Amino acid sequence: MSDNSAQVPQHVAIIMDGNGRWAQKRLMPRTYGHKKGVEATRQAISFYAKSGVSQLTLFAFSSENWNRPKDEVSTLMSLFISSLQKNTEELHTNGIRIRFIGDRTAFSEKLINQIEESEKITLNNKVMTLNIAANYGGQWDILQAVQKLAQKVESREISAADISSELFVTELSLAGSPDPDLFIRTGGEKRISNFLLWQIAYAELFFTDVLWPDFSVEEMQQSLETFASRQRRFGKTAEQLKA
Ligand code: IPE
Ligand code: IPE
Ligand code: MG
Repeated sequence: MSDNSAQVPQHVAIIMDGNGRWAQKRLMPRTYGHKKGVEATRQAISFYAKSGVSQLTLFAFSSENWNRPKDEVSTLMSLFISSLQKNTEELHTNGIRIRFIGDRTAFSEKLINQIEESEKITLNNKVMTLNIAANYGGQWDILQAVQKLAQKVESREISAADISSELFVTELSLAGSPDPDLFIRTGGEKRISNFLLWQIAYAELFFTDVLWPDFSVEEMQQSLETFASRQRRFGKTAEQLKA
């Protein structure tokens, strides 16, 4: 890994894709892939935290994933509950804060309670914040922020002219977190699939064909090396950055 800590992304966001295909390649049901995916997730959390990343945002379930077969959706919901039950204590010991982003109101009471408990236990942890995007959609996020601001305009708390990008981001679900520096998608697809839309405006994109359950420490290392080799210009010229 690069020893220049300035080159380590502060915030990494990952679309963990390819569980279903990983299982199907082994003639196993897709749900087997999701179970394997949990292992890769544990490894990724530990790797990026040790690498000095301070925010890790994982896409676990999109607002569109409700359209999958019923048994797959219910397996995923059970996996969320059991993974939180099994891993909250260890994450807490390792100084990881758990925060869910997305519309949790659609989940079962049991899952909502578990989410609240995991968030509460880990609230003051400082090593890394783990944002889990569940029933999340980038368009939903922007819309809910717009609605909250519109309500404030309606109640005359603010005026329309007060709506700046600084104010807008305070209503997004990742409020308080810096924007992702590195965006990773495993599983070969080159698309955003309604993940963070506003927040990845200037993220470096890293796509790999490796399926999520196979996303190894070597691959994670590669993602950081690739990031360190990129020149982020934010609209400026390369010459300006050298100066
Ligand atoms: C990602 O893997 C996990 C979720 C969407 C919950 P997929 O289940 O999308 O796996 P593929 O893309 O079908 O292989
Ligand atoms: C994106 O993967 C959502 C998650 C990884 C949770 P999908 O597999 O749902 O994305 P599409 O349908 O291929 O775009
Ligand atoms: Mg997929």
